[in-house]
Amino acid sequence: MLNDTATAAFDTPLFRDHAAAGSFAGPPAGTGRAEAPDGRASAGPVAGGAAIVLDDVSKVFPARGSDAPVEALKNVSIAIPQGEIYGVIGRSGAGKSTLIRAINGLERPTSGEVVVDGVAINRLTEAGLRDQRRRIGMIFQHFNLLSSRSAFDNVALPLELAGVSRAATREKVLDLLELVGLSDKKDRYPIELSGGQKQRVGIARALATDPRVLLSDEATSALDPETTRSILRLLAQVNARLGVTIVLITHEMTVIKEICHRVGVIEAGRIIEEGRVSDVFAHPSTATARSFIGSLPGREIPATLAGRLRAEATGASQTVLRLTLTGDPASQPLVTQLARELGIDIALLGGQIDSIGALPFALLYVGVPVGAWAEGPLRARLEAAGATTEVVGHV
Ligand SMILES: Nc1ncnc2c1ncn2[C@@H]1O[C@H](COP(=O)(O)OP(=O)(O)O)[C@@H](O)[C@H]1O
Ligand SMILES: [Mg+2]
Repeated sequence: MLNDTATAAFDTPLFRDHAAAGSFAGPPAGTGRAEAPDGRASAGPVAGGAAIVLDDVSKVFPARGSDAPVEALKNVSIAIPQGEIYGVIGRSGAGKSTLIRAINGLERPTSGEVVVDGVAINRLTEAGLRDQRRRIGMIFQHFNLLSSRSAFDNVALPLELAGVSRAATREKVLDLLELVGLSDKKDRYPIELSGGQKQRVGIARALATDPRVLLSDEATSALDPETTRSILRLLAQVNARLGVTIVLITHEMTVIKEICHRVGVIEAGRIIEEGRVSDVFAHPSTATARSFIGSLPGREIPATLAGRLRAEATGASQTVLRLTLTGDPASQPLVTQLARELGIDIALLGGQIDSIGALPFALLYVGVPVGAWAEGPLRARLEAAGATTEVVGHV
């Protein structure tokens, strides 16, 4: 319900102004999906270049007492086009918060360059940084609202600090609260709001100064799955309608899958894998990415099957395959076609049919006759159909 309210609110003057100014730019082709995650085509032309560039960024926290120095970021290079939702996933201590703090200038890199909206953040003076941070919104896991201020006054705070007039502040805050679906809660204090509502206030506050970039550090980690989904939908709408570039830090693959265009996997301060979300899901190249993807529901080999799997085909009747299909191939009647064309029986043993953003995605465990797999045409046919195929064992 909250979500519907939020959707309707995109017809507010705030959004019309942005649309009229032509400020929306979808991610350029080849670097992200041409469609917004809700399936809408990008609204506008691509406005040149990357919104955020990290060029060979390293951060070393010096030794303290008996603690050795910590290399929190190691030679990180990332280019995020204007309008993209870029996810960074990693385990606790991997360097995620340090990365996001380097983007908003809270942390100065030991070496390397951080450019946001054409400005080299790492070279700014403190005063320059304060100014630049107004162009970068930030939302947090624990919301960071002021408990002594109402929802309205929390959203108004950045505008007060920027010296915006009371009348203009009021208009802007009311628009933002409408946008996040909280018009009726404007006089409530944080203690009177649910976690999801508090994060909606946090998002409205982050958008108050019209930032071109929104940074989210584990913003849904304190929320239940349902609320998480509604907050992610709101962020996707903000991205699609305002063209705000979003960098989203998380340890949960569901968050990446839900709204990100591209993803970087961070481990021990390094980006060890990066790509379009659908590509990384279909062909993860590192064990870390595979384990994050494997943690999603429906990805593991079903327990009843796992107990019976054998490495050797000898004496088994079926070879068990894990098929991964992304995009168009995932919507095709592949299994029945193969069975008919090759005259074989195919057992459906488990899996998941889902979508990643707007793309259909299927991961299936199937059993095929051992002989049919050994012969080869089946393998060729699966490849031709765009399926990634792995043999997981025999039963
Ligand atoms: N201010 C700091 N001083 C010293 N070490 C730090 C500081 N901030 C972070 N670290 C260390 O840097 C590494 C990365 O931390 P962080 O970026 O917070 O990871 P994440 O957000 O992925 O959990 C950790 O080993 C952490 O202990
Ligand atoms: Mg962190």
